[in-house]
Amino acid sequence: MLQDQITQYTAEINAFDTTSADELEQFRIRFLGTKGIIKDVFDEFKAVSPEEKRTLGKVLNEFKQLAEAKYQALNETTASSKLKTENSQLDMTLPGEGFEVGARHPLALVRREIIEIFNKLGFSVAEGPEIEDDWHNFSALNFPEEHPARDMQDTFFIKKGGEKGDIALRTHTSSVQVRMMEAGQPPFRALMPGRVYRNEAISARAHCFFHQVEGLYVDENVSFADLKQTLFYFVQELYGEGTKVRFRPSYFPFTEPSAEMDISCTICKGDGCQMCKHSGWVEILGCGMVDPNVLENCGIDSKKYSGFAFGMGIERIANLKYVIKDLRLFSENDVRFLKQYKSAII
Ligand code: DAH
Repeated sequence: MLQDQITQYTAEINAFDTTSADELEQFRIRFLGTKGIIKDVFDEFKAVSPEEKRTLGKVLNEFKQLAEAKYQALNETTASSKLKTENSQLDMTLPGEGFEVGARHPLALVRREIIEIFNKLGFSVAEGPEIEDDWHNFSALNFPEEHPARDMQDTFFIKKGGEKGDIALRTHTSSVQVRMMEAGQPPFRALMPGRVYRNEAISARAHCFFHQVEGLYVDENVSFADLKQTLFYFVQELYGEGTKVRFRPSYFPFTEPSAEMDISCTICKGDGCQMCKHSGWVEILGCGMVDPNVLENCGIDSKKYSGFAFGMGIERIANLKYVIKDLRLFSENDVRFLKQYKSAII
């Protein structure tokens, strides 16, 4: 009786074939499951006579092995055929999708360009803290106490009265000049890039933080002619030969004499446009001969040494290069804006 059943099931197993994972699972449950046929036949086997057991035992074991082997073999083929159907949607001849390469921020590009130009003249790069004390941001730079010159820069104050005066976010990178001169003796020839903060209402034309690059050159016999030639070279390198420069007298507490430098408008080449307000000139930086008081404040002999300094806003320089009408774009991290500078990544 049991023998007949097994013969029948054996035929069924031998004939069974499938590529469907579902059908195979049905097969497993039917034969190998905890309530499956194998379990049943082994239960029935317990009741057969001892003579029958001898022959039937072997048959039963072979039957069980057959079912397991069948299941295993089909399991491998259905697994690989599943992979095949998934892969069949993959057309290996299609061009690859590639991956997006990020772009450098336009301010980083401009900063790097400025640094590279001054590197050729032997300027190194120095940095200082963004949280500054009154001494480094103002007093050492010859801003008299209670003098309206301090109002030129709307300061974000952090703490009243530290060892070196009120603590504030630096309003300019000129503070790094002081730190550099305090730390050693001339010659100094360095560029000092960094972020600065001013208490301004945010608009297309003003922001509460922006970036500057400060320049300092102190040695024996440094003259205003050196300042002019250095900045002239810088402008030719950055905006191309033929770009004109002019110096207008100005006032900064830390330089004497002081000047502001204009260049011929990079957009209209001097013909007059919106960028230069139809004047043909745009201002790009402030500069001057380091005031002897500043040298002395930093422990440098002003009779022996002289120097020049300059400071420019990186946003301004970038604007003249890329014509970015709204300052806020620089800090919004809008990928659509940033992506445009992709070509300049190398
Ligand atoms: N610190 C000035 C500012 O933020 C810029 C400046 C002017 C820097 C003249 C200088 C300089 O080094 O000599 O407006």
